[in-house]
Amino acid sequence: MSLALDPAAQDLLFREARTANAFTDEPVTDEQVQAIYDLVKYGPTAFNQTPLRITLVRSAEARERLVQHMAEGNQAKTSTAPLVAILSADNEFHEELPTLFPAFPQAKDLFFSERPAREGAAALNAALQAAYFIIGVRAAGLAAGPMTGVDLEGVRKEFLDDDHTPLMVVNIGRPGEDAWYPRSPRLAYDEVVTTV
Ligand SMILES: Cc1cc2nc3c(=O)[nH]c(=O)nc-3n(C[C@H](O)[C@H](O)[C@H](O)COP(=O)(O)O)c2cc1C
Repeated sequence: MSLALDPAAQDLLFREARTANAFTDEPVTDEQVQAIYDLVKYGPTAFNQTPLRITLVRSAEARERLVQHMAEGNQAKTSTAPLVAILSADNEFHEELPTLFPAFPQAKDLFFSERPAREGAAALNAALQAAYFIIGVRAAGLAAGPMTGVDLEGVRKEFLDDDHTPLMVVNIGRPGEDAWYPRSPRLAYDEVVTTV
């Protein structure tokens, strides 16, 4: 009763949504990914930085190059998922800031002229956007399998450049047979929330 979102959507996004470890071979189209992005791009980031960048790994050759950087336990599912995305943070996001945050265009030079400040902000805000993206995948009726069990530096060298910091690799598709590990417990409200 306290939530505005209808119960079916609550289930789709959270209660019945799971992290998939196996997928059917039904393709995930560019149109689906675009619909997901065009929804989740509205998720908030500091100064509207929106530093998340998404690399879709589509060719068999690129998939092979990616899988070699995955931890052993992540290799099989990354080889067979219909679509794999590398999510990274753009450490040069400040170049877009005057456009993205026209209310305060000085932010670019005032707060983000130094690379370490940009890297910190990009890591936090791209991670937020990665979470929005995972929920967006669920909103499309698909399942996501995010993974940090990967040599991220290797992925950076293989697919990105020094201006981009990879955060995670995400398998995307319809869940296949035996897709789930057992559901793990969550902390209860009282264990997490304090009021001061
Ligand atoms: C950032 C992130 C990194 C993860 N890395 C891995 C990974 O490397 N390998 C793996 O099998 N699962 C990985 N997971 C999956 C989590 O273990 C899983 O989402 C969590 O246990 C909740 O599972 P559930 O959605 O089925 O309840 C990762 C999840 C996230 C969000």
